[in-house]
Amino acid sequence: MNTANTLPHVTAALNAVALGFLLTGYVLIRTGRREQHRKAMLAAVAASGLFLAFYIVYHFTAPIFVFRGTGAVRPIYYALLISHVALAALVTPMVLLTVWRGLTGVFPRHKRLARWTFPLWTYVSVSGIVVYAMLYHVYT
Ligand code: HEM
Repeated sequence: MNTANTLPHVTAALNAVALGFLLTGYVLIRTGRREQHRKAMLAAVAASGLFLAFYIVYHFTAPIFVFRGTGAVRPIYYALLISHVALAALVTPMVLLTVWRGLTGVFPRHKRLARWTFPLWTYVSVSGIVVYAMLYHVYT
């Protein structure tokens, strides 16, 4: 098994781990557990950082994998893919700023931004998993 075959599964797993921490972190802050919220969100950022590193390696080492679905599913797949990529680019600086505001203790501004960052990041993560499933497991 070479890197091109393995890395998409590694990145998808890291993305799923990040999503798990993100949702856990949200539940933690909604139930008032600030210290655990901080830890869960930092773990989500760490998993996403690893994801990004592997993702970049993958795209420099592997040929583009073409979507094999046909018919009505193609525009659905591409709409999902384009929204996923565009929002991933948008949410990345938002995540960094949200973390910064959390770590430096400017909580009202952290909370105001986090209310956008959280749903956007969740969408990016979930749509990434759906794109991965469609590309590598459903339409093979
Ligand atoms: C990108 C990472 C993070 C995200 C997406 C995030 C998300 C959120 C969200 C959605 C809320 C508002 C919850 C509500 O509606 O009541 C919140 C509040 C809060 N977050 Fe984060 N958070 C992150 C990182 C951090 C970090 C690193 C800290 C460090 C201490 C932190 C500390 C807090 C605190 C103390 C609150 C409560 C603020 C208040 O009620 O005034 N967060 N966070």
